Amino acid sequence: MDKENQEMTLTNRQGHPISDNQNIRTIGNRGPSTLENYHYIEKISHFDRERIPERVVHARGAGAHGYFEAYGKVGNEPISTYTRAKLFQEAGKQTPVFVRFSTVVHGNYSPETFRDPRGFATKFYTEDGNWDLVGNNLKIFFIRDPLKFPDMVHAFKPDPVTNLQNPEKMFDFVSNSPEATHMITFLFSPWGIPANYRQMQGSGVNTYKWVNQDGQAVLVKYHWEPLKQGMKNLTQKEAEGIQGKNVSHATQDLYEAIERGYYPEWELCVQILSDDEHPELDFDPLDPTKLWDHEQFPFLPVGKMVLNKNPENYFAEVEQAAFGTGVLVDGLDFSDDKLLQGRTFSYSDTQRYRVGTNYLQLPINAPKTRVATNQRDGQMAIMVDQAPGQNPHVNYEPSSLGGLQEAAPSGKEHQPMYNDKLVREKISRTNDFGQAGDTYRKFEDWERDELIANLVDALKICKPIIQRTMIEHFTKADPDYGRRVSEGLAQANVDSAHIGSDSERDGAEMAENSGKRTD
Ligand code: HEM
Repeated sequence: MDKENQEMTLTNRQGHPISDNQNIRTIGNRGPSTLENYHYIEKISHFDRERIPERVVHARGAGAHGYFEAYGKVGNEPISTYTRAKLFQEAGKQTPVFVRFSTVVHGNYSPETFRDPRGFATKFYTEDGNWDLVGNNLKIFFIRDPLKFPDMVHAFKPDPVTNLQNPEKMFDFVSNSPEATHMITFLFSPWGIPANYRQMQGSGVNTYKWVNQDGQAVLVKYHWEPLKQGMKNLTQKEAEGIQGKNVSHATQDLYEAIERGYYPEWELCVQILSDDEHPELDFDPLDPTKLWDHEQFPFLPVGKMVLNKNPENYFAEVEQAAFGTGVLVDGLDFSDDKLLQGRTFSYSDTQRYRVGTNYLQLPINAPKTRVATNQRDGQMAIMVDQAPGQNPHVNYEPSSLGGLQEAAPSGKEHQPMYNDKLVREKISRTNDFGQAGDTYRKFEDWERDELIANLVDALKICKPIIQRTMIEHFTKADPDYGRRVSEGLAQANVDSAHIGSDSERDGAEMAENSGKRTD
């Protein structure tokens, strides 16, 4: 066999060449089979374990590699005024990235046309280790307290008895969570179905902090704005048309655009606010159900991202990718946003279960910088995270015997002061309806028409108490909004009464006709 053919030889995972991959070993060619069929047993038992648990949310996704290029300033100011994060400092500096886009509620392989927020998670492999910006396309969220997240997801996922999607469950939860009114207003408008993953915005949603060399912080919100590919949303009808032919249109669109060299690009913009409570605003800047008005707080560009390489293997890169809001680099920090703090525990917790204890050793998740820890062992440890000069016996710190040492501080630490009672309470400025009304009024006519039609379609099957509460919430947002949903539902009731009497009549006719049957 020549060298080239040898390199193509099939082996098993032990490196044994496989000369027969078509027939198991049997006594005579009609069987029975024997138990020591090592090649078969290895092959089938690996196959039996090919799937890992799917993400509990955001199960369906697509990903791509690329780079982020910094502008070296924020608006017209030096960026070092606000953050010392190295990836932003120098104009033209490139940092490799991996992005995973996703839908949220439905399982893996579900149609990508569903009305649902879209995930937009970016891993920056910076010189200071990884930074994950785990965002969505929409700029706000349904809830502001992480304690409500599991209930929210249960209400949005299929019914535990029938396994059917049921909008009544969703609106039951939403009508009892008035802070969701703003998000529902976006979700049921065309903004709830982006045309694909390339032509949509991204947002960090939560409020974070930037910290400069002196340890001073500001509040920031992150936004990805699509560049040359633009932005596009779908009507319900357009989405249904696509879904009838293709349940993977967004994955296909991203993959094919990159294969053709039509690389999607986004500009990263930030909004900045001083780090205080801002009593002059009618909302709390830490509340993720609120927009920071972009006329008052302009979008300041800090760099752009280009996605120019498809994954080589979907499972290894996209499925096993693990993003989390705790993954920040020096110069970036958390704010006191409660939802953000609740999220931060959840991501690495679920990833230790979903992917495994050593998920950070996988190439897609490992930083591209050196890693030196005293963490050892655990399932699937594929390397020892030690420094080249480290005494391999010293897997602890502190030590005088050649172990790892703490790093020198890279700037003054940001040390906020707290002096308050420990409580379980909502924030004071909830203002659940004001911005929902603003958003409703800012929509174009066709977007408002779609919103009303989509809401009526979902709410018409709900119990009257849910319909009444939702109408009340929409009315508080804008009287016209409440009136149109209310009139739409009244009309839907008339229509269904007609359909009811039509079908009763049809039924009676059928019964009559069947009575005349002679067979
Ligand atoms: C995925 C929890 C809110 C964006 C996930 C996952 C969990 C989770 C457990 C699965 C992660 C995995 O298996 O790797 C939570 C909790 C939240 C919350 C507890 C609130 C308390 C949000 C918000 C956003 C968001 C507000 C948008 C800013 C995402 C994205 C993913 C995700 C994009 C998919 C990441 C990927 O592509 O792998 N979330 N989430 N989540 N979440 Fe959240």
